[in-house]
This record gives sequence, C-alpha cells and structure tokens, in this order.
Amino acid sequence: MESPAPTATTLGEEALAGFRERFGREPDGVWSAPGRVNLIGEHTDYNEGFVLPVAIDQRTWVAVGRTEDRVVRLVSTSSSASGETVIEHGLDDITPESVDGWSAYPLGTAWGVLQGAEGADLSAVGGFDAYFTSDVPLGAGLSSSAAIECALATALVDLWALDLSDDELLRATVQAENVIVGAPTGILDQSASLFSRAGHALFIDCRDSSREPIPFLATEAGLSLVVIDTRVKHAHAEGGYGDRRAACEEAARILGVPALRDVTAEALEAGRDRLDEVTYRRARHIVTEDERVQQTVALLRSEGPRSIGDLLLASHASMRDDFEISVPELDTAVEAAVSAGAIGARMTGGGFGGSAIALVDTDRVEMLTDAVRAAFAEADFKEPAIFVVAASDGARRESD
Ligand code: GLA
Repeated sequence: MESPAPTATTLGEEALAGFRERFGREPDGVWSAPGRVNLIGEHTDYNEGFVLPVAIDQRTWVAVGRTEDRVVRLVSTSSSASGETVIEHGLDDITPESVDGWSAYPLGTAWGVLQGAEGADLSAVGGFDAYFTSDVPLGAGLSSSAAIECALATALVDLWALDLSDDELLRATVQAENVIVGAPTGILDQSASLFSRAGHALFIDCRDSSREPIPFLATEAGLSLVVIDTRVKHAHAEGGYGDRRAACEEAARILGVPALRDVTAEALEAGRDRLDEVTYRRARHIVTEDERVQQTVALLRSEGPRSIGDLLLASHASMRDDFEISVPELDTAVEAAVSAGAIGARMTGGGFGGSAIALVDTDRVEMLTDAVRAAFAEADFKEPAIFVVAASDGARRESD
C-alpha cells in the first residue's frame, strides 16, 4: 500500500521555507485545510438535502504574508506535474475571464472573501504573497480545490482582520468555485474542509447549512477507511455534473417543490408519470440518497461504523444505475473491494472519475489493495493509488 508522501509536517515546513526563499522575508503565518471524502450523500447538497463527509489527513498548506500594494503573488509546488506555478494578479480586478487553470482557486478565494466582507472594516485589506504546498491529489475527487480555497480564505480572514461568521466564510469559498472557477457545485466540499473535526464525520443539512459532528470511530471498531483513486480525472466545470444538476432542478419544478429535498419516496412515486424515465431515475437517486444519509447517521450513533456497509453499497448502486455518474474503474474498485472483504464501498464525490472509498477490517487492507490492483490490471486500467485515510480536523492556523 502507498502512503501519500511527503508527510504533512514536512509540507508545512516546505511552505514556510518556500515562502522565505521566494519572497525573501518571513510570512505572517501558515494555514492549512484538508481534502475530504464523502461517506455518503452524493449530489444531495445542491438539492438542499443531507451529506456526511469526512475530512482526510491530506492537506493543503499555505504560508501567507501581507504586502503594501494591492497585488496577489502566488507560488504553488503542487498545481501541476511540471514543477512550480507562479501567478501575479491585481487584487481588485479578479474576474472569471482574468483567471486561468489553477489560479482560479486562490484568486477566486481572494475575490470571494472581499465580496463577503463588503460593508465591513476593510482597513487591513491589501495585497499578499502566498506559497502553497499540498498532498491532496489533484482531480481525484478528494476536493483539492476546496482545500486551496479553505486554507487561503482562513488565512485572509485572519490577516485582513475580517469579522466573517462561519457561514459567510463558507459562502466566500463556495462563491469562488461557482462564480470565478465556474463550477456549479454545492456546499459539500468547502463545508467539510472548513468545519470537520478529527474522529468525526460532519452531518450537514444543506438547506440551512447547519452542521453536526457525528463520531466516526473506525479505528476503534477495527476498521480502516481506504481511498482508491482510479486516476480517471474529473472536472466539474465540464458537462456531466451540470446536466445532473439541471435534471434535478427540472424534476423539482415539475413536482412543484422548491428542491428535491422536499420530495418523499411516496410523493415521487405518485408523481412518476409526470417525469420522463431518466428524470425520474435522477430524482429517485436524490430522494433515496437523502434517506440513506439519515439512516447512516442514526446507525453511526447507535451501533458504530461496522453497521453502515449496506448503505454505502446501496448508495453506489443508486449512483451507478439511477444517477449514472459512475465509470467502469469506480465499479471495478467497489466490486473488487467487496470481494476482498470490505463491509461497504462506494464512489465518492461528483463522479465521472475520481475516487472510491471502502470500509474494511484493518487486517484486510493489504488483501483489498492487492485485489483492487489485480482487478485494475486485468481490465487494463491505469494503476490506482490506494491509501488509508483518517478523519481529520478542518481548516486552521498552523503557526504565526
Ligand atoms: C462535487 C461538488 C459537491 C457535491 C459533490 C457530489 O464534489 O463539489 O458540491 O455536489 O460533487 O456530492
């Protein structure tokens, strides 16, 4: 099994050392924010439903220092396979058209925080230099973009002495993604990256964005949470994600409710003949997934993680058959994991590539890894990256 390298502590030190070397001075501090997996509750967030993510121990680190001008200077060692990315951009003229590729995430965040701070005391707002390091794999469905946004937003709110509530901070990071990056995503990823707690999953009601940490004691139950990165890249600013969102909104409109959150299984059946076959199945995924999230939370509370395997499997089947966002690599990962003894497995995140998760007895992790690798080789897929993750804390200041 691979352990993601380098380690988190090294990455924090690397961000600090990189900042010193690149900008020739001390930063004002170092901040970090995690990637996430979603335990269950997929595509329910923009339907104002329920989600249950877990922040992982892969994080993005950023050393930031204020400047006197209104210019943003960014350096990243993790944004591409080909070494360092260096960006320079005015703070006051960030638009969807002025950003490109990786820079959309940090620049969008600065823009989002400024929007969120409108009307507040802006006297401490100015340009900044930032140096990023990360071990959240890119394009793997583990929210590497939310980790960038949430680490930097947390830093800017501190440095600019802005009095933003948690919900305003969340909105700033989601707006970065929706408006500047141009991906029509919900609040799942940024909520997880900002507000998660170690040893817990985060139960979020996406209608009012209220959040509750739910103990997720996998290790104590003798279980490991394994990520299988299929290495099939996905991107939510492209086609499939937006199509699914549009189908859900259409179903809600036809059924006469504000969002699919408001539809029960009975109401969906009653309205079935008003929906075309595909739209019906899209809606059925959302309606049943919302139920599964609530059942998972109830089971985690009453019996612990060993009891949730069947719900994870049902969720995967629903995404594969009704929502149609899985790909052969994800199905193979889930099937091979289950055949190697996983108690549950499912694709996680937006779909069309990215990662699956599996919950498995810790003494079977090796067996699972071998089985998934063998199945991928057999099918002539790319070699997957497989690693165990731990439920971790959300965004935080790491040092002064
Ligand atoms: C992506 C989006 C989230 C959410 C998931 C699917 O990760 O960014 O808002 O919709 O897909 O659950």
